[in-house]
Amino acid sequence: MAKIVCTSYLFSDQIDRMKAAGHKVWIHRGDEPVPRDRLVAELADAEGLICLFTDRIDRELLSAAPGLRVVANVAVGYENIDVDTARERGIAVTNTPDVLTGSTADLTFALLLAAARRIAEGDATVRRGEFPTWGLDQPLIGVDVHGKTLGIVGMGRIGTAVARRGRLGFGMRILYYNRTRNEEGERELAAERVSFHRLLAESDFVCVHVPLTDETRHLFDRDAFRRMKPTAVLVNVARGPVVDEAALVRALEEGAIAGAGIDVFEHEPDVHPGLIRLREQVVLTPHLGSATRETRRSMAKLAVDNVLAVLSGEPPITPVG
Ligand code: DGY
Repeated sequence: MAKIVCTSYLFSDQIDRMKAAGHKVWIHRGDEPVPRDRLVAELADAEGLICLFTDRIDRELLSAAPGLRVVANVAVGYENIDVDTARERGIAVTNTPDVLTGSTADLTFALLLAAARRIAEGDATVRRGEFPTWGLDQPLIGVDVHGKTLGIVGMGRIGTAVARRGRLGFGMRILYYNRTRNEEGERELAAERVSFHRLLAESDFVCVHVPLTDETRHLFDRDAFRRMKPTAVLVNVARGPVVDEAALVRALEEGAIAGAGIDVFEHEPDVHPGLIRLREQVVLTPHLGSATRETRRSMAKLAVDNVLAVLSGEPPITPVG
């Protein structure tokens, strides 16, 4: 029997699976993150850890867990985990790829459409009891999505799923910027691999799907925004710090770009006040990329599958790195 620590709520059927496998499960309950000292104390005799991307699993924490064998992040991104230290210590680290690809791509497109067609502004207008008179130049005129150029920065699983929606659903031309070629995307979606600067210059919609690394931090800075079309819309559902939020606010205020659909923020849960102030073609959601009932259940199940596999001596199902 091993002890498994869960830093947050987990569906009861998944807890039952771990108990049925003979493990003891400790779960942090409550809306606030588990206090660090409590987590350190609980990990002292734990062999498994199921955590969120909001938990910082660093060297200090890993050192406090001498018997730890697996860290299962309930997220596809894993920049919150010191993977090198885990590797040195022989601790498996896993994430939850694939199961959230569709829902994250759906939200990307929802934000893209909402910013282009000013859906949030329209909703707020109707709720204020206003209904602008129909006219060719009425307020809340947006821009077309179909037939436009979609630039995908990071053509991995989610980027490809977004490109597929753009190409097959909206007849868009697809450009992508990625370290390696995506031959499937090129074949299936006529996607063209281009330089970062060319993508910025030619895209009507730019969607961010890169992980947060030293190279991608502030990839979208003042210079990047200056290279984009003044009519362009930026959509970020990846990680907030990939975008310099102050530079984004400035670009929107100065008209360097036209709009943004933002689900992730540089200093979550804080949001730059400039973004809150901007409403025209700017749509903000609170990190909802994977937030559907089906996907969240699948993420929990995959995290538990990983922990149970490692604790029973099998290889992890979705190891990172
Ligand atoms: C992830 O999986 O990395 C998301 O940001 C959490 O849904």
